[in-house]
Amino acid sequence: MIIAVDGPTASGKGTIAKALAAHFNLPHLDTGLLYRAVGRQVALDGGNPDDAGDALAACSFPDSLLEDPELRSEASGGLASRVSVHPAVRQALYDRQRAFATQAGGAVLDGRDIGTVIAPEAPAKLFIVASVDARAQRRFLEMQAQGRAITLEEIAADLEARDRRDRERAEAPLRAADDAVTLDTSDLGKDAAIAAAIALVDKAFA
Ligand code: DC
Repeated sequence: MIIAVDGPTASGKGTIAKALAAHFNLPHLDTGLLYRAVGRQVALDGGNPDDAGDALAACSFPDSLLEDPELRSEASGGLASRVSVHPAVRQALYDRQRAFATQAGGAVLDGRDIGTVIAPEAPAKLFIVASVDARAQRRFLEMQAQGRAITLEEIAADLEARDRRDRERAEAPLRAADDAVTLDTSDLGKDAAIAAAIALVDKAFA
């Protein structure tokens, strides 16, 4: 029972994936965190995220880095998006994600290419979308709650730049799998979005 949850940044896919994991009693992997750790490690090494060699070297980041709260920052998201264009980085992170997806009993994974590359056989695939305005507003509130100084305009510009990079990259670009169901959360509160996602997964498994 693999559930693949893909979509652009701040679409609500992380919240939905976590809630699906709790509801269906499955382990959950936020695959964006792996790319964020690579991006952060490149920065710690003083390397260049746009250089494939520097980015590949950073894939051997220590597991403890996954606990670093700095990974949740916009800066780490931007670095993650930049290192994620390198095919060697995607290859280096593949086995870990694939092993998680295929563990006995199933799993929920969220990211950009779970339904297309990591677990194309997943019987339940959701593609979560929301308008740029809705996503920027959500991210803004999140950043404010974390005490991070960033404006709504900066967040919207950053979201659009990351969307473009994630969609236009040659390797495993952000796109819905042909058999994915799209859920637009622009006008849905958190609970309504989760309920809608659970109903879609129930339908996929029916
Ligand atoms: O989901 P997120 O915002 O934490 O992801 C950060 C970046 O990592 C995203 O802009 C692109 C990259 N990413 C990816 O290429 N493939 C994934 N499965 C997950 C994330």
